[in-house]
Amino acid sequence: MNIKNSRVLITGGSSGIGKATAKMFVDNGATVVITGRDAQKLARVATEIGAIPLQFDVSDLKSIPSKMKEALALLDGKLDTLVNNAGIGVFPLLGDITEEDLTEVYTTNVFGLALLTQEIIPLFKSNSYGNIINIGSTASQKGFARGSVYAASKFAVRGMTQSWQAELRKDNIRVCLVNPSEVTTAFADMSRTEREEESNKLGSEDIAQAIISVVEMRDKAFVPEVTVWATNPF
Ligand SMILES: NC(=O)c1ccc[n+]([C@@H]2O[C@H](COP(=O)([O-])OP(=O)(O)OC[C@H]3O[C@@H](n4cnc5c(N)ncnc54)[C@H](OP(=O)(O)O)[C@@H]3O)[C@@H](O)[C@H]2O)c1
Repeated sequence: MNIKNSRVLITGGSSGIGKATAKMFVDNGATVVITGRDAQKLARVATEIGAIPLQFDVSDLKSIPSKMKEALALLDGKLDTLVNNAGIGVFPLLGDITEEDLTEVYTTNVFGLALLTQEIIPLFKSNSYGNIINIGSTASQKGFARGSVYAASKFAVRGMTQSWQAELRKDNIRVCLVNPSEVTTAFADMSRTEREEESNKLGSEDIAQAIISVVEMRDKAFVPEVTVWATNPF
């Protein structure tokens, strides 16, 4: 796809991976709507990177149809690429998991992502075209200690991605799972403070670059899954 003049919607575009991805799309000539929960931060970041802000909490499941209408209206009813990036994590040991942990993480990472994506499928099918990038994680592929809630939610994202690939490939809709390993962001930080980049860990731009490469391939080429590691994490 030619990124220049394309239309992109990125959930959770106000920090970390979503922000870097939005900036890279904007810098390559796309029109980009970014969403987030914190309206002030979202407005500030949108101004900084040249994106269009839409305050939209994907865990508010009832609001998804109307918010997606607003998002599409901001893009003149056109969309080429949806990046399902908004995500949260909690990391309790088995024995300490609460119902709230499961509900909060699943509602954002799984239920919100699925119901939101459904809203753009009629448009993508009528265009016989579209790109869906789901942000998974290396936790989509392998569990780890304290990963019961988060890894399970990201395994679910991988399962949905593979199911959507089976359903939508015939409509020329490309669905790709992008699995970052650790990236220095505000992820899972209650204060929502961005971490400084570390020499042996990924930065958000590394994931943005992977997403752009997948989307800008010729439309007949389709990458189902990409995993990005740092070369020397130790
Ligand atoms: N960082 C890592 O090591 C890592 C590794 C693998 C995968 N990932 C995945 O990458 C994605 C992005 O994470 P990140 O590291 O960039 O984290 P981040 O810096 O915390 O950014 C998360 C973004 O999502 C937004 N968001 C969170 N919950 C939302 C909701 N319910 N509705 C709308 N927006 C919401 C946040 O906005 P507010 O600040 O306004 O809430 C923020 O813009 C997540 O899916 C995460 O699971 C991260």
